[in-house]
Amino acid sequence: MSNMMLRKASLVAIMSLGVTTAAYAESCQNTPLYDNMRIIADNMRPMTQAIRSNDMDAARDLLPAMMAAAESASQEQPYLFRDGGTDSDIAAYDAVMAEFLAVFTALEAALAASNQGAAAQAMQALGDVRRTGHREFKDRSCED
Ligand code: HEM
Repeated sequence: MSNMMLRKASLVAIMSLGVTTAAYAESCQNTPLYDNMRIIADNMRPMTQAIRSNDMDAARDLLPAMMAAAESASQEQPYLFRDGGTDSDIAAYDAVMAEFLAVFTALEAALAASNQGAAAQAMQALGDVRRTGHREFKDRSCED
């Protein structure tokens, strides 16, 4: 390769590196976790309403997308840890996510049993875990 070509090639490499890094680090709204959170959030009200009106079929239809998003979210890391969380940060996140998934499992069982009261309770518990998760792991820059 000529010197000129080498310089061009490395310029392109540096530019594309810059773009990739910026796309991830720009804000918490660019994270895979954010996308999964949105999926869960968009289904919360329809789920609450389906349970309130005792429409278990509708509730059971909404559940898989929410659970899949929660499963993915549990494999991801918050933007807060973008420079690398400590082992104890990551363990704390994993613990809250494990609780989150356990509540979804309880919701799944309640819906399978058409137990409206237990389903409503699970929805409340999801709200509680959400509060804990956001308080501990949402970066300040993520506030709306
Ligand atoms: C029903 C439960 C939940 C709902 C509806 C929910 C919804 C959302 C929404 C809408 C956002 C986008 C920012 C905003 O609008 O506030 C968000 C961000 C976020 N949520 Fe949740 N969330 C839930 C549970 C959790 C749990 C359990 C955790 C942690 C274990 C968590 C951690 C985060 C983090 C860290 C962000 C910022 C994005 C990032 O850092 O990449 N959320 N969530």
